[in-house]
Amino acid sequence: MTTARFPDGFLWGGATAANQVEGAYDRGGKGLSIQDVMPHGIAGAPTEEPTPDNLKLTGIDFYHRYAEDIALFAEMGFTVFRFSIAWSRIFPNGDEETPNEEGLAFYDRVLDELEKHGIEPLVTISHYETPLHLATAYDGWRSRELIGFYERYCRTLFERYGTRVRYWLTFNEINSILHAPLLSGGIRTPPEQLAEQDLYQAIHHELVASATVTKLAHALMPQAKVGCMIIAIPTYPLTPDPADVLAALDADHANLAFGDVHCRGAYPGYFLRTLREKGVELEITDADREVLRNTVDFVSFSYYMSVCETADPARRAAGRGNIMGGVPNPTLPASEWGWQIDPTGLRIILNQYWDRWQKPLFIVENGLGATDRLVEVDGRTTVVDDYRIAYLNDHLRAAAEAIEDGVELLGYTSWGCIDLVSASTAQMSKRYGFIYVDRHDDGSGTLARYRKKSFDWYRELIAANGATLS
Ligand code: BG6
Repeated sequence: MTTARFPDGFLWGGATAANQVEGAYDRGGKGLSIQDVMPHGIAGAPTEEPTPDNLKLTGIDFYHRYAEDIALFAEMGFTVFRFSIAWSRIFPNGDEETPNEEGLAFYDRVLDELEKHGIEPLVTISHYETPLHLATAYDGWRSRELIGFYERYCRTLFERYGTRVRYWLTFNEINSILHAPLLSGGIRTPPEQLAEQDLYQAIHHELVASATVTKLAHALMPQAKVGCMIIAIPTYPLTPDPADVLAALDADHANLAFGDVHCRGAYPGYFLRTLREKGVELEITDADREVLRNTVDFVSFSYYMSVCETADPARRAAGRGNIMGGVPNPTLPASEWGWQIDPTGLRIILNQYWDRWQKPLFIVENGLGATDRLVEVDGRTTVVDDYRIAYLNDHLRAAAEAIEDGVELLGYTSWGCIDLVSASTAQMSKRYGFIYVDRHDDGSGTLARYRKKSFDWYRELIAANGATLS
């Protein structure tokens, strides 16, 4: 096997989101976010107010332990750290005129720490954590007013951190709104009551908001690079039957539409056809059309799995997976949580995105959620997570192949570089990290951090710029 080659300056690191790590949900003037009333992840209905069984309220206490955690990332040699800013720390309700200084100061401290270790920040502006008030009073992104609130929030971030942060992502996994309107779009109306007209109008508002702040970022911070962020789920036909191939194309289009708007600045024809067939008439102003032309500088995405699609209702089986799921692929193994494992799919998606958009790409989430067991090895408390090492090795090998194919790839941030609360199931036991956090589904645990075997593996990999991949 040839040695994997990554370009000089390739960014190596990890990723988290505020609501899954910070805790301190009511500290420092923070308002409530939708996550604070979602104790069961995307599966259960939201509660009226925060409940003690919601692990995200306390997270892994990154709010107080960020310096210790960033030092561990530095020990692995991270050159980039992706994290999100909790909108409700900056604008507690989301619609205020002035920001909360204590919230801004917290992220100043995080950035200080990253600077100290020479780690480049990669900031997600909105990662499934819309302020709760925007959800209850406006039904989230259904309301056009959200564009203005989001723009004000972004202006505040750009003015405050613009000289310190180069890489920005506008919305985490923007295409997930099709499947999880509350999580992704802050829409309180239950999915079964949500009219498609309103769902697609919300999507339009988010796309306009993203383009609006991309334009703003470029005006305020000439050195800034603004990226979109999409769930990448390559969709394979279940059989070679052309009807299945077409069904797979349709399913792929539903996701690609978001990247097409972000990268090409207008709605693609197939998407307009979908709207016509659904009887959806979007309210799109001339100003909207104009602003959408502000395209992103790079495309970032999460990649965990691929799915299949078929036109045959008799063969349609619902698989489990990253928010949207799909028809299971009979050729692939799956994780303990039923997410199918497909490293080759990563090479395929990298090529597809590069061929289609010709924009630099950034893998900002990838990893294996697994049950870990703490053990003693040579006097060290650790986790022997060979399964995670194998998963990451194979996916990075596929990324290296894509680079050989000519894809321009900026970097890789492994998801949940430190164990955190799961987004879909709100569990602690679904662990992704290189660092084990002593916290459990029932809320018990000391919160102590332990280096797993993958911690050493990743440190060596980064030091060799990927050349140690097998
Ligand atoms: C992505 C999200 O969908 O997948 C993350 O951006 C999430 O927030 C990650 O944590 C893994 O999903 P889960 O459900 O295993 O936490």
